[in-house]
Order: sequence, then structure tokens, then C-alpha cells
Amino acid sequence: MVSTQKDARTVLSDPRFSNRQELKRPQLPTARPNDASQPAAPGWFIHMDPPRHTHYRRLLQGQFTARRMRLLEPRIERIAAELIDGMITHGPPVDLVSAFALPLPSRVICELLGVPYADHAFFESNSTAMVYGSQQAVADLTGYLRDLIDGKEPGDDLISGLKAEVTVEELTNIALILLVAGHETTAAMISLGVDTLLRHPEQDRSDPVEELLRHLTIVRVGAPNRAALEEVQLDERTVAAGETVTIDLLAANHDPAVFTDPHTLRLDRPEAREHLAFGYGAHLCLGHNLARLELRIAYRALFEAFPALRHAGEPRPRAGYPIATLEELPVAW
Ligand code: HEM
Repeated sequence: MVSTQKDARTVLSDPRFSNRQELKRPQLPTARPNDASQPAAPGWFIHMDPPRHTHYRRLLQGQFTARRMRLLEPRIERIAAELIDGMITHGPPVDLVSAFALPLPSRVICELLGVPYADHAFFESNSTAMVYGSQQAVADLTGYLRDLIDGKEPGDDLISGLKAEVTVEELTNIALILLVAGHETTAAMISLGVDTLLRHPEQDRSDPVEELLRHLTIVRVGAPNRAALEEVQLDERTVAAGETVTIDLLAANHDPAVFTDPHTLRLDRPEAREHLAFGYGAHLCLGHNLARLELRIAYRALFEAFPALRHAGEPRPRAGYPIATLEELPVAW
């Protein structure tokens, strides 16, 4: 395990480290049961190395353009406003996870991909089960997305945009990755971020995103790991060829060599952006610009609508999950 920022950057960006699951040691502590002995299926780019990985990243980067993000911004603002209206109509207390933190990114990723939000209960519960390690959930989501892709009318969404460029199998796997990665993580950052802001009312909340990403580091231990293709000398020790290294992003984001007084939340911390909460190197989070946009809008809209937002009960963390997140966050105003 590496826990310093320097080693984390090396392991995540040095091509002598591979992200192919079949090369990793099965005993490794991991986000998912590490039973993958086969090379990644077509389109399952998260577990590929360059140049296969680069091919898919290029295709996808063409979809995650600045233009598409600009088009999405007013949509995200409208979604946030609608969810806030729903909270006002309901009246306090409200569970912020089910009323806001989960539906916001879930609706955004649906619009981006061209997946009907009407099916959200199905894909939200299966996404959670998939991150817990359920193979059944992977199969159910794959079947759902394949049917959707087969019957899809072309539109201004990502699935339509990629349809001519990849096979149905590739597109199904790409859509599955984006659907799951696109809402679980952002929902976690909204709920835990609001919980954290409520605990620090003395701090200026106008620009909290980067420090919250650093401080909370919701993707912690287990998810990012890499296999050494040859012997590599790290800062303080040597990794032998064939060994697997896991990267403790939470520790790297609390590395005192980079962050002064690292365990203290300081929303005005000038070095906050040095964090590795979105990873680093070739597999740097594909959705980081989108996630940053969603978080900026979500925190701002909530605290503008409810300047007196407060806890209305104990937040309930989700247990045994590879992503730090809340199951429930009771709030009132
Ligand atoms: C990769 C974190 C939101 C899509 C990653 C990685 C991290 C991460 C740490 C690197 C994993 C590794 O190197 O092994 C986060 C956090 C988010 C977030 C903290 C929210 C605050 C999103 C969103 C999307 C997304 C909104 C999609 C719309 C992806 C994809 C990858 C990835 C596709 C794999 C990239 C690759 O392998 O090339 N994310 N993510 N993420 N993320 Fe995110």
C-alpha cells in the first residue's frame, strides 16, 4: 500500500504499473471481489492499459466536451431548483440523500447518457449492489442497457453520439461504467459534503468544492490499485514485478508534505487543488469536470435556498461500502 502523495502519483502515472485486473493479486483488498482472470471485455476501458485504454478515452473525451458541459449547466441548475421545491413542499424534516443528493446526479447522468429517469429505482438499487460486488446486478444492468441501446431513437445524448463509432457490446459496457460511476460518487460527495459544511458553520462556504473533495476523499482504499509489470523503485521501497500496489487516496490527500495541518478542514486552503480525489494519470476520473460542476451547483443552490439548514437527526453512514457515503441525512431549516 502506498500512502504518500509522491508514491501515489508515481504508481498512478508510471506505465510500468498496469490496471489490468487479470494481472492483480486476488488476495488484494479491493472494491469488488477480484475474480477477473480474463482480459477486460470490449468497452470495459477502466481495466485496460494504453493503447487500448487510450482509444476509448479519446472516444469519450469527444463526448465530455466543454460545449456539452455548458449545455448541461442550466439543466443541472433547473434540476437542483426542482428538487429544492420538492423539499419545500414536503416541509422539514427531510432526508437529504433521497430528496436531493441522489436524484440530482442520477437525473444528470440520465440526461447525459439518454437513459430514461423513470427507471431510476431499478438502476440506482442495482448500481449500489454492483459496487457491493453483486454479479447479478451487473447482469441485470447489462441486459437493461443492451435493450435500451437496441431500441434507442437517436437524440442529443452520449449513447446516440457513440452508437456509430462502437459495437453494441462496447457501448453497453461503456454506458454501464458511466451510469454507475456517474451518480454513486457525486451523491456521496453531496451528502457527506453538506454534512461536513453543517459541522463547520464558521467557515466561508462560497467555494468549498476542492477542499471537501480532499478532506472527504470518498474513493479511499481498495478501488485504485495497480500491478507492477517490472521492478519499480518507489520513494522508500522497491516493488517487485508481479506485485500489486493499492493506493490509499485518503492518506495521500492528508499527506503533511503537501497539506499543512492536513486533518483540519480549511475551505480557503490554497493548496486544496493538489488533491488526488479524482485519481491521477491515464485513469484520472473521466467525469471530474462534470462532478465539479454538479457539486458547485448543489452546495450553492441548497445553502441559498436554506441559509438555516441544520441536522435533524444523526446521519447514517453506508456500512462496508468501497465509497464513503451516507444512507440517510436528516435535515431541517
Ligand atoms: C475514475 C473519483 C465522479 C466517471 C475515477 C477515479 C477516481 C474517481 C478516484 C480513479 C480510479 C482509478 O484510478 O483506479 C470520482 C469522484 C467523483 C467522481 C470522487 C465525484 C465527486 C464521476 C462522474 C463520472 C465518473 C460524475 C461520470 C460521469 C469515471 C470513470 C472513471 C473514473 C469513467 C474511469 C476512468 C478510466 O479508467 O480511464 N473516478 N469520480 N466519475 N470516474 Fe470518477
